[in-house]
Amino acid sequence: LNYRVSRTRKEIFETLVKGLQRLEYRGYDSAGIAVDGPTKTTTDMSGNTICLFKKKGKVKALDEELYKKDSLDLDEELCTHFGIAHTRWATHGEPSAVNSHPHRSDKDNEFVVIHNGIITNYKELKEYLKTKGYEFESETDTEVIPKLIKYVYDNRESDNVSFSTLVERVIQQLEGAFALVFKSHHFPGEAVSTRRGSPLLIGVRSEHEQLTENIPIQYNSGELCSTLSISEGNKQGKNSHNRSDSFSGINSVGDGRAVEYYFASDASAIIEHTNKVLYMEDDDIAVVKGGKLSIHRLNRRAGEDPVRAIQTLQMELQQIMKGNFESFMQKEIFEQPESVVNTMRGRICFDTNKVVLGGLKEHLKEIKRCKRLIVIGCGTSFHAAVATRQILEELTELPVMVELASDFLDRNTPVFRDDVCFFISQSGETADTLMALRYCKNHNALTVGITNTVGSSICRETDCGVHVNAGPEIGVASTKAYTSQFVALIMFALMLSEDRLSLQPRRLEIINSLRMLPELIKKVLTLDDKIKDIANELYLQRSLLVMGRGFHYATCLEGALKIKEITYMHSEGILAGELKHGPLALIDKDMPVIMIIMRDACYTKCQNALQQVTARSGRPIILCCQDDPEMTKNAYQTIELPQTVDCLQGILTVIPLQLLSFHLAVLRGFDVDFPRNLAKSVTVE
Ligand code: G6P
Repeated sequence: LNYRVSRTRKEIFETLVKGLQRLEYRGYDSAGIAVDGPTKTTTDMSGNTICLFKKKGKVKALDEELYKKDSLDLDEELCTHFGIAHTRWATHGEPSAVNSHPHRSDKDNEFVVIHNGIITNYKELKEYLKTKGYEFESETDTEVIPKLIKYVYDNRESDNVSFSTLVERVIQQLEGAFALVFKSHHFPGEAVSTRRGSPLLIGVRSEHEQLTENIPIQYNSGELCSTLSISEGNKQGKNSHNRSDSFSGINSVGDGRAVEYYFASDASAIIEHTNKVLYMEDDDIAVVKGGKLSIHRLNRRAGEDPVRAIQTLQMELQQIMKGNFESFMQKEIFEQPESVVNTMRGRICFDTNKVVLGGLKEHLKEIKRCKRLIVIGCGTSFHAAVATRQILEELTELPVMVELASDFLDRNTPVFRDDVCFFISQSGETADTLMALRYCKNHNALTVGITNTVGSSICRETDCGVHVNAGPEIGVASTKAYTSQFVALIMFALMLSEDRLSLQPRRLEIINSLRMLPELIKKVLTLDDKIKDIANELYLQRSLLVMGRGFHYATCLEGALKIKEITYMHSEGILAGELKHGPLALIDKDMPVIMIIMRDACYTKCQNALQQVTARSGRPIILCCQDDPEMTKNAYQTIELPQTVDCLQGILTVIPLQLLSFHLAVLRGFDVDFPRNLAKSVTVE
């Protein structure tokens, strides 16, 4: 957004496209831009139209579209202009131009919006808006937002209502996560942005030498709007009060000199323009009007800082893209406290202990009537099936088969119409899994997709499904997708057992533990330094065994896979129950062994395995619960983990192994994100 800085439309396009390209590393499937149409004069912009350009695929394709013959006048000089651009990674609705952002209020583009995040109550809002005559053109959750702001605008109590008040009223109705930027031809040259749960920052480039000021927050009256009473459970909208708005006198930036503002979800998009940034907090509403920035909030929270400081970023572009992390894989490992929350968001009600997976609702009866569950995947996704098999059996009281897609097909496995077949896949494109899906469909089984990629082949071809919403995963070795698949399968088991009285205490225990899970993951991540030290001792070894049983067999398989994938060491996940049937022959004082021994139903049996290992001079590194003297006594090293309910503990035991494989790969000098010979998405059988 530029004020008193003359820019050609071509330069504006270039800035927006470059910003999107800087964010390409996050993964996306479509892109879009909104800019002002031809101006009447360069100073009076009222009545301008807003032009939208949207394209499926790469930013490059969008860029080409902008320069087509019938596009806007590229040389037109614009002294004040606000453009918005977005890359979409599908969560609701397949990747397509119509589903990509910006979304609009109506055919005249009165309001256009870009959104990062997920609106969990969009269905309710959409139904309401449809009754008011709004027609929706996309399948996205986002589209309710521009429609809603137009609805609020059309029903405003007076002509003085400001743009930010409209936005404030809209966000009172939204549930879920969002970073939003709004543009409207009713408010030319004015930008309003807000966030809740999704990141958003503002970059400021100005002629002012001094840009270290704090922006004071303006607190509004604290009372809410009268025009909306959309959601049944949302009492907020039912307050009756007409609020007046004032935005004067609180701005500390932009007093007539040239200034440009950049809103972005990530500093990498803007760092080449400015290193002065302000990070927005949840429910902040930032307004840029007349060249001035102000921050508004409805209420002051106790202990809250009443200012937002403009900070100077010291980082280089490359660093910012990966944050402080050395690789995407490391970043993704550390994202897990948030990614598991995103998997659960809007699906678990911790007050009523209800779990609702919207994508399965319509088929729930059929699923409950089935005779068997078959859970199919490849690589890490298969391990998510192994990890949750026991709890699926326990809570659904159904036989559960877990299958590697290739082997399942090789065996021509019998499948029946009363089977429910799950297809677990991060990419949703793995050829073996897709073939298995088609095979099961041919046998008339009900098919369910559990994927991290909306619009993927597996999503489209299954009868119903669950998006795990872990966010794009770039590192070839899967980490956060695994823990999110794990959580999604547990939620399925919880949903299916809702009406079984005898299972309620168990369900409750699991639901409570899910609530605590992000905090516990954070605790595990604090062990990173210790794990790095262990990696330092191990990285010259040729082989590494990972042993456990029960709920942790999957962790052994997954840990060994991570080690193989990125360190190129030999590694094997061993079921401790099978130790004496062969693997024990490998044990001596030189063979590195990791054992997983948590306090669960298998604890005693694991202790036996430990004795067998130490009796052969083995020197195991033990992943165990905090304060377990038995383990510290017998181990060469321990990694002590916080305890949670048995069926979720596997999420906490796998993270140290993700970290260990990462450090081993770095020490061995390999490319962590792109291991040799492997692909992120294997689309050939
Ligand atoms: C490839 C990847 C693995 C992944 C597996 C299954 O082998 O390298 O990291 O676990 O495919 O992929 P999917 O996308 O189906 O989960």
